[in-house]
Formats: sequence, C-alpha cells, structure tokens
Amino acid sequence: MSINGKILQETLDRASKENGGLTSLGMGFYKRLFEKYPQVKPLFKTPPEEQHKKLVASIGAIVSGVNNLDILVPYLRAMGIRHLKYKTENAHYAAVGENLVAVLGDHLSKDGQWTDEMKKAWEDALKVVSDVMIEGANNPEKYKDELAKAGYEADGFKLKDSTPWILTKPAV
Ligand code: HEM
Repeated sequence: MSINGKILQETLDRASKENGGLTSLGMGFYKRLFEKYPQVKPLFKTPPEEQHKKLVASIGAIVSGVNNLDILVPYLRAMGIRHLKYKTENAHYAAVGENLVAVLGDHLSKDGQWTDEMKKAWEDALKVVSDVMIEGANNPEKYKDELAKAGYEADGFKLKDSTPWILTKPAV
C-alpha cells in the first residue's frame, strides 16, 4: 500500500472547483457522517459550519505533505493524540474514512468522473493517515520527543497556536 499523491492532489483540486467547492464537500461530510454514524455526533461540539473548515484545511495539508513525511508524520501523530481529548475511539477511524471517500466520490461524480483508481488512492491514503494517528494516540509517551522537536506539546497541541491543523504555519 502506498500514497498516490498525484491522484490525491488532482482530485482535491477538482473538488475545490466542482459541485460548490470545498464548502459543499465539507458540509456534505458532516451531514452524511451524522446520518450514517449518529453515535459520533455527540462528540462534536463545534458546529459543522466551523468544523468543516478545519477538516478541509487538514486534508489539504495532508495531501500537500505526502512528499514531506518528516513533517507530515509528526503532524499526524500530534493530531491523533489531540483526538484523545475529543473522545475519539480507534474504531471510529474506519467510519470517518468510509464517509470521506463516499462524500468525495459523490461530490466529484456530479460534474466529472470518479474512477476506481481515485477511490483506491483515497482509501489507501486514509488508511495510512488513520494508522499513523491511531499509533500516536495509542502511544503518546513514545512520541513525546519527536513531537517536541516538531513544535507540539505532549498532548498534541501547540503553545500559543490555536490552529494546530494548519501545516504550513511556522511553529511559534
Ligand atoms: C482522517 C482522519 C481525521 C482527520 C484528518 C481529522 C481532522 C480533524 C481536525 C483538523 C480537527 C480540528 C481540531 C484539531 O486539529 O485538533 C478535528 C477535530 C475533531 N475530530 Fe477529527 N479528524 C480525523 C478523524 C476523526 C475521527 C475518526 C473522529 C471520531 C468521530 C473525529 C472526531 C473529531 C472531533 C469530535 C473533533 C473536535 C470537534 C469539536 O471541536 O467539537 N475525527 N478533526
């Protein structure tokens, strides 16, 4: 299994232009998530109108970071550790991944094509992303030093930075 950065970038670029763009994708993500997996709805305190912007920004960061694993891996481990605070369970990752692929497929099918190759590229990438986040969440102590080097606190947050999901922002 590997990450096909080219397909991820091409499809994300298309998603930003087609069918109402990334707002429609992000809002559609939470609509379907809460319909299909109502058990996770109580975990979300931030309304979808705000939350979707963070999700879309993190997906953009992940896609643009796939060739820069030195930065991407600690980013994902930190994000997995932050999700402990949100009461996320390991078993939820498959649901979130399934939901994102389904919503993206629906989004891109409206004005253009959604192929099996695109679907597989996203499924593979989300499996890697989930595995790295879960590994971080399961072992926060183990990654403490790696995270500190990358500018994250042990709980995955950043001091004086309320937007830790933005990858390009320099550490403060
Ligand atoms: C592909 C994997 C995932 C990505 C990229 C992702 C992305 C994000 C981002 C960027 C945030 C904003 C806060 C932060 O960065 O700390 C967030 C918050 C959150 N995520 Fe995730 N997430 C993922 C998986 C999950 C899963 C599996 C769940 C379980 C239901 C989940 C539930 C939440 C909750 C409850 C919040 C806090 C919302 C609030 O502020 O009320 N996430 N996620």
